Amino acid sequence: MRILVTGGSGFLGSHLSEKLVGFGHDVICLDNFYTGHRNNIEHLVSKSNFELVRHDVTFPYYVEVDRIYNLACPASPIHYQANPVQTTKTSVHGAINMLGLAKRTGARILQASTSEVYGDPEIHPQTEDYWGRVNPIGIRSCYDEGKRCAETLFFDYHRQYAVDIRVARIFNTYGPRMHPKDGRVVSNFIVQALKGEDITVYGDGSQTRSFCFVDDLIEGLLAFMDVDKGFPGPINIGNPTEFTMLELAESVLKLTNSASRLVFKELPQDDPKQRKPDISLAKEKLSWEPKVQLNEGLLKTIQYFSKLDLK
Ligand SMILES: NC(=O)c1ccc[n+]([C@@H]2O[C@H](COP(=O)([O-])OP(=O)(O)OC[C@H]3O[C@@H](n4cnc5c(N)ncnc54)[C@H](O)[C@@H]3O)[C@@H](O)[C@H]2O)c1
Repeated sequence: MRILVTGGSGFLGSHLSEKLVGFGHDVICLDNFYTGHRNNIEHLVSKSNFELVRHDVTFPYYVEVDRIYNLACPASPIHYQANPVQTTKTSVHGAINMLGLAKRTGARILQASTSEVYGDPEIHPQTEDYWGRVNPIGIRSCYDEGKRCAETLFFDYHRQYAVDIRVARIFNTYGPRMHPKDGRVVSNFIVQALKGEDITVYGDGSQTRSFCFVDDLIEGLLAFMDVDKGFPGPINIGNPTEFTMLELAESVLKLTNSASRLVFKELPQDDPKQRKPDISLAKEKLSWEPKVQLNEGLLKTIQYFSKLDLK
């Protein structure tokens, strides 16, 4: 198959592209390199079934493809808040352009949506039928509402034009090739521990998150793309095992043998207190569930970061 991966040089996109190339598909990796980096896909560039295209999804792109994975969008608050208007455009115009392409070519299209569509949730864990509690005018809204609008577009293209869609709601994912300066908690803690700097914990560290290792996440996306027509989602893909930020910090300190100290700072605006996927639907529909334990995934991630120049 010929497969387009938008955001293909980013953290998740590069792992996905690597898998698809390994399966023997022709992969077109499209990226504007806003947060993605050539290093992430350097090992794929010489392969005959891999093609790299510099392009911004907010502009139309024409190519004959069988499948599209739409991952293009900065995913960390530091990056998506740097240019919030562009973030909303990437989600919304990007969705329109990629859905238009899917409509024209008859390609099946998967949207990398997010647990952020649930906002600061009143129910726990979050099931797919929960509509969310999102601030429409806050500093995270460019991302949260952009992704919500993209979901709306996906379902309208599905209902109106019978486009074969897949909407995956991705929960916190970590692993090698995360951006070292993306400000996300796992990369923050690891980088700080490796540099011997203070580890910054927001709030009192009792807020919980669930973390999915990248290999598990990619397996989930591939399984979802492959299930028979007729199941558009949305579907939660993530790891339901919860850890407090304090537990995470302690694991990182232990695995890096770091002498860093924990320091506590005020919680950022609209930071959800708790986030955990209910993955019953993914288990039922995709026969998928995560396998990698946090310590195993953290170790692989630490090995990756320890080879980088972190100055
Ligand atoms: N990593 C997570 O924990 C997580 C959680 C939920 C959802 N997601 C979603 O998964 C997708 C990939 O996330 P990631 O963690 O790999 O982030 P990332 O920032 O590493 O990757 C995003 C990629 O999209 C590219 N991009 C951004 N704007 C673009 C544009 N206008 N045109 C073309 N390319 C553009 C970037 O250069 C980058 O390569 C995103 O859509 C994100 O919202 C990720």
